[in-house]
Amino acid sequence: MISNFPVDKYQRPIKDLRISVTDRCNFRCNYCMPAEIFGESYKFLPKPELLSFEEIERLAKIFAQLGVNKIRITGGEPLVRKNIESLVKALSKIDGIADLTMTTNGFLLSKYAKSLRDSGLNRLTVSLDSLDEKVFNEMSGVKHGPQKTLDGINSAIEEGFENIKVNVVVRKGVNDHTLLDTLDYFIKKNIIVRFIEFMDVGTKNKWQMKEVVTSQEILDIVRSKYDAKPINPNYKGEVASRYKIDDYDNEIGIISSVTNPFCGACTRARLSTDGKLVTCLFASGGKDIRTFLRSGASDSEISDEIAKVWSQRDDRYSELRSKGISQKEKVEMYYIGG
Ligand code: GTP
Ligand code: 5AD
Ligand code: SF4
Ligand code: SF4
Repeated sequence: MISNFPVDKYQRPIKDLRISVTDRCNFRCNYCMPAEIFGESYKFLPKPELLSFEEIERLAKIFAQLGVNKIRITGGEPLVRKNIESLVKALSKIDGIADLTMTTNGFLLSKYAKSLRDSGLNRLTVSLDSLDEKVFNEMSGVKHGPQKTLDGINSAIEEGFENIKVNVVVRKGVNDHTLLDTLDYFIKKNIIVRFIEFMDVGTKNKWQMKEVVTSQEILDIVRSKYDAKPINPNYKGEVASRYKIDDYDNEIGIISSVTNPFCGACTRARLSTDGKLVTCLFASGGKDIRTFLRSGASDSEISDEIAKVWSQRDDRYSELRSKGISQKEKVEMYYIGG
């Protein structure tokens, strides 16, 4: 083994593992899986290409031994993968994993909230861009409005989930006029709303800077109604800048990956649906761990391989973007998880 706790070229350890358990989703958000590309005939990964739950569990244990203490289950939409609770159960038992969480669009959450809780999921983040039916449908590529997602969040509250977060991707001229309504609704429910600057992830969302509502502009919108005071991060490298809203004993977060990148403290590794280790959200590809694992490699050989990849990591895409350097080939977000 190279070392128990590898660090990359900028001395960043691996702390956070994000596992995409499926490349499929029941939504078609226009910034992630636009319906015109991901139609009926789109070929998602065939089952044998996906990491099995046993393979994910084995890799997660190895990552935990390399210093990971937080796992986020993502997708695609993780709740469309059959029997996802059994994976949650297995991951929740891994030594060293202090925080096991999931990012979901919430559509199926009413059905799964109880079993996820019983299986040991600590936290939940729900993506929800607007409460306005028309805006929601336009951004999510669906026709049913946000009600089922809201029901899902209520079920999660009833099942005892705490610190539930709602992620709102903000696009200029699309949902920025609905941000305060979203905040009004969730602030009373003690849910932490996080507004995210629209990013140039993947290659399919036709990102342009002029569509970004900057974190400063977002803060101005929030402050037009609420007193928002900056507060310290919960942990080093937290992606959201936090603000306390005193009147409601609640907080919000603003994620400024475009105007104020946070690569310097980025300790996130991503495991794609088909078992590639991706070291940056904006990487052009990843190291195929699945083939190595399926060829009969031992835990210690896999661990060495992961440590080797990590020790060569020099990613800081968002910082480079802010200096005007961009990259053409990028992996898609549904495949590596947000
Ligand atoms: P907490 O554990 O609740 O603090 O959440 P988190 O920091 O893991 O944040 P979450 O996964 O909910 O991320 C929120 C959003 O921030 C994601 O959906 C992305 O849009 C963005 N984001 C997360 N990680 C990264 C990252 O490594 N780089 C960039 N550029 N954006 C990121
Ligand atoms: N910019 C910012 N956030 C994004 N997400 C997906 N695509 C983008 C983008 N282009 C967010 C989703 C979800 C999480 C997985 O990533 O809204 O909350
Ligand atoms: Fe699905 Fe999330 Fe992508 Fe929307 S952002 S299409 S909910 S994976
Ligand atoms: Fe980390 Fe890459 Fe995001 Fe920078 S751009 S914070 S290195 S994932």
